[in-house]
Amino acid sequence: MAKDRNRFVCQACGAVAPKWQGKCDACGEWNTLQEELAPAARGPGPAAKAIGGRQIEFVGLEGSSPPPPRIPTGLPELDRVLGGGLVPASAVLVGGDPGIGKSTILLQAAARIAQGGPHAGRRALYISGEEAVAQVRLRALRLGLEKAPLELAAASALRDIVASLEQEADAALVVIDSIQTMWLDALDSAPGTVAQVRTCAAELIRLAKSRGFALVLVGHVTKEGTLAGPRVLEHMVDATLYFEGDRGHQFRILRATKNRFGATDEIGVFEMTERGLVEVPNPSALFLAERRGNVSGSAVFAGIEGTRPVLVEIQALLAPSTGGSPRRQVVGWDSGRLSMLMAVLEARCGLTLGQNDVYLNIAGGLRINEPAADLAVAAALVSAATDRPTDPGTVYFGEVGLSGEIRQVAQAESRLREAQKLGFAAAVLPRRIARGGRAPAALDGLRLTEIGHMADLVAPFAAKAGKKEPTRERETAKAG
Ligand code: TYD
Ligand code: MG
Repeated sequence: MAKDRNRFVCQACGAVAPKWQGKCDACGEWNTLQEELAPAARGPGPAAKAIGGRQIEFVGLEGSSPPPPRIPTGLPELDRVLGGGLVPASAVLVGGDPGIGKSTILLQAAARIAQGGPHAGRRALYISGEEAVAQVRLRALRLGLEKAPLELAAASALRDIVASLEQEADAALVVIDSIQTMWLDALDSAPGTVAQVRTCAAELIRLAKSRGFALVLVGHVTKEGTLAGPRVLEHMVDATLYFEGDRGHQFRILRATKNRFGATDEIGVFEMTERGLVEVPNPSALFLAERRGNVSGSAVFAGIEGTRPVLVEIQALLAPSTGGSPRRQVVGWDSGRLSMLMAVLEARCGLTLGQNDVYLNIAGGLRINEPAADLAVAAALVSAATDRPTDPGTVYFGEVGLSGEIRQVAQAESRLREAQKLGFAAAVLPRRIARGGRAPAALDGLRLTEIGHMADLVAPFAAKAGKKEPTRERETAKAG
């Protein structure tokens, strides 16, 4: 058996090094290694494995298991992100910046579950390691939830929490706010370190599985945007939800980045009001609410978030650079993708953007990962560059390739239907490939402009601007 020796654990990625060093070899972060006592070897060693243990049984893929039962949280947008509600005996991690609304939404959900519904008679427990009971009560009062039979405790000693939860037979939900404040006295390291967070989470998850309650862990996010310390937590839990949006905005977007019981990348949209987080059933209307028509540099993107189409305004601003290398400032989109699009616009469409500072913003605090946004971003850029507004009644979607070709994207029909629902009159989209049928009947009234190359996007702006039409580069790419 190896001698117990101290080891050094990276607080960012959880990698273990035998001695202290300034930089973590695994993730490249500086000053993240902290000393921890190596855990005593436990469990059967390789020799014991040969003798002990039962035979496991293998089964075929066929056979029916019922879908997991669900506990509705009373917040349909939260249920949507979870894939239909909380699953008993599962663990969910809710991450996000401080002050974004994690405690608020979980208090709301826990109170609603405690208030009954189909799971009446089951209890909801809320354990806060960050706030005193009085503070949580005050928040409940503000939210009008003070009458809910939620059971509240301020605790952070894992030993006490486990001892109490071991007694629970009828808890439906246990909220731990937050996992970084929990600590186990058997470990030498401080609360919030990887060792503590990992051990406490593992212990709580084990309890959730054995006692059958749904466990929700709140996790803080570091300024780099990862859950503090624990990448290690993400693979231990069944679902990870992140709160996006900034505190300056009233919109909050809850996104599932991992979900063993539902789709990922599903979003829920909320608005922070004085009565807590309120659902936004029609996010497109909200994201477009502050749009001002007839301003250059703005285009509406018809996107898909999870299973839901969402329209969002993309804003671009070009300003003459004041020397040095021009700035590229992007909020809510990938800056590498922006550079690529600008290169395509310059090389394939003859647009000159190079000497300008470029600012790109996805309005409303949404973060977009779809390549389908390329065409809308390009439209906003071209509109900014030519100082001509895009048609306010038009939506854009399509992926752009390096030769300037516009590529097909998934779910064109739902995007178009959403645009139609919100009163848009036209759409610019990739050219349908031959096998595609006609536009669906439901889309009557929506004028479709199918384009195959970026030059087709640029031409109308250039014509309007009265500038010389950019010459279309010879299409070099083979289709597909
Ligand atoms: P909180 O839920 O405490 O955030 P977290 O747990 O993620 O750190 O966050 C709340 C912020 O929201 C806080 O700055 C106050 C504001 N807030 C409201 O605007 N309305 C409300 O009803 C509540 C409870 C909070
Ligand atoms: Mg909180």
